[in-house]
Amino acid sequence: MSQQTTRTGTPLADAARDHLWGHFTRHSVYEPTASGGSGADVPIIVRGQGHRIWDDRGREYFDGLAGLFTVQVGHGRTELAEAAAEQAAKLAYFPLWSYAHPSGIELAERLAGYAPADLNRVFFTTGGGEAVESAWKLAKQYFKLTGKPGKTKVISRSIAYHGTPHGALSITGIPSAKAPFEPLVPGALKVPHTGFYRAPEHLRDDEYAFGQWAAERIAETIEFEGADTVAAVFLEPVQNSGGCFPPPPGYFERVRQICDEYDVLLVSDETICAFGRIGSMFACDDFGYVPDIITCAKGMSSGYSPIGAMIASERLFEPFRHGTTTFAHGYTFGGHPVSSAVAMANLDLMESEGLNAKVANLAPAFKAQLDTLLELPIVGDVRGAGYFYGIELVKDKTTRESFNEAESERLLRGFLSKALFEAGLYCRADDRGDPVIQLAPPLTIGEPEFAELTGILRDVLTRASELL
Ligand SMILES: Cc1ncc(COP(=O)(O)O)c(C=O)c1O
Repeated sequence: MSQQTTRTGTPLADAARDHLWGHFTRHSVYEPTASGGSGADVPIIVRGQGHRIWDDRGREYFDGLAGLFTVQVGHGRTELAEAAAEQAAKLAYFPLWSYAHPSGIELAERLAGYAPADLNRVFFTTGGGEAVESAWKLAKQYFKLTGKPGKTKVISRSIAYHGTPHGALSITGIPSAKAPFEPLVPGALKVPHTGFYRAPEHLRDDEYAFGQWAAERIAETIEFEGADTVAAVFLEPVQNSGGCFPPPPGYFERVRQICDEYDVLLVSDETICAFGRIGSMFACDDFGYVPDIITCAKGMSSGYSPIGAMIASERLFEPFRHGTTTFAHGYTFGGHPVSSAVAMANLDLMESEGLNAKVANLAPAFKAQLDTLLELPIVGDVRGAGYFYGIELVKDKTTRESFNEAESERLLRGFLSKALFEAGLYCRADDRGDPVIQLAPPLTIGEPEFAELTGILRDVLTRASELL
C-alpha cells in the first residue's frame, strides 16, 4: 500500500489505479485481482536528487534512464526551479502567435547558435512528437511553395519511434504502436535501420559496407517512389527503439549525398540525442553531418518544464519571408515562457559544468564497464554512444537467436523489469525490436556510478540467465 494519500485521504496507489490513465501502460497489471488484474501498485516516484529517485515508500533507485532520456543535469536542481518561479512571476504565459516574449527569443537565438551551418530558424513545440509533426508539415509546404507540390512522402527506418501524433506516428516504424490507429497518414515509407548486430549475413564483418548498404536502401526507395514525390527522410543520429543503433561509419555522409541528389530534406530527429546525450549539443555534430531540419525536446530543459523545437535552415524559411505566406501551424504552449526560461537555465548549467565534454571523455569508460556484461550467456550485444546504451539479450549467443513472443513476455515483462526495479535500478526493458535493456542516465554521473549500474545489471542478468 502506498504510504501517502491524496488530499481526499485516498492512498495514492488507489487513486492512481482508479483515475490515472497511464501512457503506454498495460493497466491490467494494476487492476485488482478480483477483477482479473494482477493487483500490483503503480510505482510512484515522489522525489529526485542527482541521479537518485525515491518512491512513496522511501525506497531509493538509480535513475538509469534520466526519467525518459530527459533529465540531463540530474534531479533536484534548485537553479531550474528558481528560473521557473522568476519567469512565472514576471510573465507566466504568452503565445508566439504573431507576438514574441524575451525568454523565447533568447532561447531561439541560443539554439540557432548551437545548430550547425545555417539552421537558424527555431519553431517551438511542447515536445518531440510535435516537432516531428511540424517538420513533415514544413517539408510539404516548403515544396508546395517552391514549385514541387508532389513532394509529400517521407522515409524513416524500421522500428524507429518518432512520436504519437498521426503524422509522427506514421513516420514511426513500430507496427504494433500503429495498428490500433490505422489508417494513418499515407506516404510514410520505411527502410532498414542500422542495427549492425543483426545485419544481413554477408555484411556482418564490414560495418562500413553495411552502412553503405543501409543508406542505399533510402536511394532505392526514392527511386522506386519517384524523387518528385518524396519530401524528407527522418533519421535519429543514434536510433533508440530497437536498442541504440549507432550510425555505421560513412552512413550519414552517404545519406546526405542521396538527399542532395534527389532534393529530399534530411531531418535529424534528435529528441533523445541532442543536448549532450552523445557529447555535443546537437548529435549531428557528433557524427559529422548537416541536416536540413533538427527536431529536439527532452534534454533542452532537462524535463523541468516541457519544450521542444524544430530548427530549420535558412533555405526552408526563405519562402515564408514574403507576401502573405504563413506556416499555418502552431501550439498554444509552444515555446512557453516558463519552459524557455528553464531551458536557458538548464543550458547554462550544462555549459558551466562542462557536461558535454564530460560525456565525450567518459563515454569509453562507461562502454567498457557495460562491455564486461558480455561475459554473461544472455547478453548478445552492448552498443550505443555517449551516455546512451542498449544491451541486447539473446537466447543463444552463438546463433544470436532471440526470444519468441512468450519467452519475451516471461523474461522481460514477467521478470526483468520488476527485478531491475527491485534491485534499485530504474531503466527500461524494451521489446519493440529484439529484447534490450536501455540506459540513458543523467549526464552528471561518472566512473563510480558506471560500476554501480553495471553491478546491478550483472546481478539481475545472471539471475535472468538462470531462468532460461
Ligand atoms: C526520436 C524521438 N522522436 C520523437 C519522440 C516523441 O517525443 P514526445 O514524447 O516528446 O512527443 C521521441 C520520444 O521518446 C523520440 O525518442
